[in-house]
Formats: sequence, C-alpha cells, structure tokens
Amino acid sequence: MTSAGMQPTTTRRTTHPTVAIVGATGAVGQEFLRVLDQRGFPLGGLKLLASARSAGKSVEFQGKPIVIDELTEQSFGGVDIALFSAGGSISKQYAQAATDAGAIVVDNSSAFRMTDGVPLVVPEVNPEAITAANIGLAEGQVPGVIANPNCSTIIMLLAVTPIHRAVGVKRLVVSTYQAASGAGAAAMAELEQQTREVLAGDEPTCDIFPQQYAFNLFSHNSPLKENGYNEEELKMVHETHKIWGQAEDTKTAITATCIRVPVMRAHAESINLTLERPLTEEQAGKLLADAPGVSLIDDRAGNRFPTPLDASHVDDVFVGRIRHDLSQPGGQGLDLFVCGDQVRKGAALNAVQIAELLLD
Ligand code: A2P
Repeated sequence: MTSAGMQPTTTRRTTHPTVAIVGATGAVGQEFLRVLDQRGFPLGGLKLLASARSAGKSVEFQGKPIVIDELTEQSFGGVDIALFSAGGSISKQYAQAATDAGAIVVDNSSAFRMTDGVPLVVPEVNPEAITAANIGLAEGQVPGVIANPNCSTIIMLLAVTPIHRAVGVKRLVVSTYQAASGAGAAAMAELEQQTREVLAGDEPTCDIFPQQYAFNLFSHNSPLKENGYNEEELKMVHETHKIWGQAEDTKTAITATCIRVPVMRAHAESINLTLERPLTEEQAGKLLADAPGVSLIDDRAGNRFPTPLDASHVDDVFVGRIRHDLSQPGGQGLDLFVCGDQVRKGAALNAVQIAELLLD
C-alpha cells in the first residue's frame, strides 16, 4: 500500500454503513458477526469476503444466509467500513483497493499499526486518536486506515491505562500466557485435535506449530529478532508507546515475555508496574473497578482470581491479584493479573468499537 492510501481521502460517514468483513470465515471474522449482531450495530449492508476456497459457501447472520465472496480488488464498491482480519499480507495487498473505493479500513493485522498517520486505537484508552483535529485532518475527515492494536496490548492497556493516568507508570514488566485463538481458527482446531490424540496415546499432529501444544507451552511463535525478543513482545512495547502518545523522552520502560499456552481463546497476563507516585492497593482496586471495559475478580479469602474461562466470550477484561510488589517498597510497585478474550476485546470487539466511533 502506498502512503497515498494512508491519506484521509475518504470522509464518508453514515448512520447505517455498509460493512465488509475481510476474512469472514476466520476465528475473528466469525466473531465480528456475533459482535455486530449483539451490539445492534446499525448495518446498512454486509459483505462477507474470504479466499477462493470459501467463495460460494454461506454463513448465517441474523437468521439469514449470506454468501461469501472471493476477496478481489473489486470487492469494495459501496462499502463504507472494511473490517480486515485475514493477516498482514492480505491487508497490505487489499487495503489500498478498499480506501480507493471510499471505504475506511479498520485493520486487525500488524501491517499498518506503526505507520505514521495511521491511528492505533483502543476506544476506552485513546478514542481521540481518530478525531480530525487531533491528527491534523480537516473537520469531518477521518483517516483512510485505522489500526486495531495487538490483542495482548489491548488487554494489558485496559488494565494499566487507568493506573497510568492516575499516578504514571515508570516501568512495566509483562509476561503473557496466550491462547490458541491468537494463531487463528486452524490453531484452535489443532489444539483440540492434539488433546484428543495425546489422551488416546497417539502421536500429536503438529501442522500449525512445530512442537506439541497440548499439555505443553512454548515461547510465542512470532519471529525472533536479533536482540532475542520475538515480534509479539516488541509489539507490546512499541504499540503501548504509540497508544499512550509517549514521545522518546517520556516513554515508559517496558519489557515483555510472551508465551503460548494450551488455552483456547482468552489470554492471561502477569503485569508488574513501577509507579511514578505511590498508590494503595485499595486505590488501585477502585481505579480498576471504575474503569470502562474492566471487571474485578480479586477475592483473596477465596483464592479466586481471573481465569481465561472467566474471560472467554465476554467483553470485559478481568483483573485480580492486585497487590503491592514486596521488592519495591514505598507503594510504588504494583502487581496485577489480567485475563481477556483474545478474539473479542483483543480483536473483533475492539474493531467494532472503532467502527462505532465512525458512525455519524
Ligand atoms: P479462508 O477460510 O477462505 O481461507 P484465521 O485467522 O482464523 O486463520 O482466519 C483467516 C481468514 O483469512 C479466513 O477467513 C481466511 O479465509 C482468510 N484468508 C486467508 N487467505 C486469504 C486470501 N488469499 N484471500 C482472502 N481471504 C483469505
């Protein structure tokens, strides 16, 4: 996609947009349909797009079958908002065609997240990032492409941003426990298949990941960089700085370790913070209880804290284990444990919330 495609050439806003879903057969694509339906999104029309393999099949939406079309450059005529979730290479290949046809692209891939001029948006955190005046656009204009952040970043920022806003986060250390869904529908199917195979005493099939996934865990499958970090970890670092609008000299120090665990669809994250100013556990709990999109499960007496199953198929991100870090005296060290549905708030819900910000 050329930088011209990033330009705000599309300014069409409508009360009832025609929406295209690119990658409609995938794990996130299917969730888009559920979220649009459940939120009563005011659809003017709906176009489902996937590969030639799926063309002609139909998917049920609000009781009616909708035929899936093959994605081509001609797919976007009459489309107002295109929700892309078919991987970065498809976004790079087709986003330009969508914006040329007058659609606003909400892209779920990492293709444009760090591109200058492309807002990276978590609606509870930085909705102002798509407001014309804030990004140098004329009144009424919107950017051609808006990026949906990485799922682990979104889930982390729902919990950490209220604390950052209140007392400042100087340093953040996050360790993730990431579900199969982040690697797509095929990875979820492989986890299920391997679980059956291992229980039956058979050799597990390893088509998606090179090593056994069921009854195991491993370092995130994204490519490793020369500095030893994988791409997922670096996304959490760089995307957070962009979403929080931090300039070079004000950046929160962030490090991440991302691990794939044999859980179907909700990510968990252990987060350790060093705060600019002290915060009591009670104050942290209150900030999080009041935060949009966040629910607490923090029952010390019952030893009951968030689990991926609590978060699965649910909009809110769950937070618990809110406690002072013993190794950082003075009330400036805080630990949190967070669980969020990767497919929903980590992807489809966040993108649909962005689309809602575009409604007239
Ligand atoms: P298809 O089912 O036709 O392959 P997931 O992330 O769950 O693996 O889903 C990936 C999504 O991206 C699916 O909807 C898939 O469609 C779609 N996709 C993959 N390759 C292409 C392509 N070349 N053109 C259009 N859609 C594609």
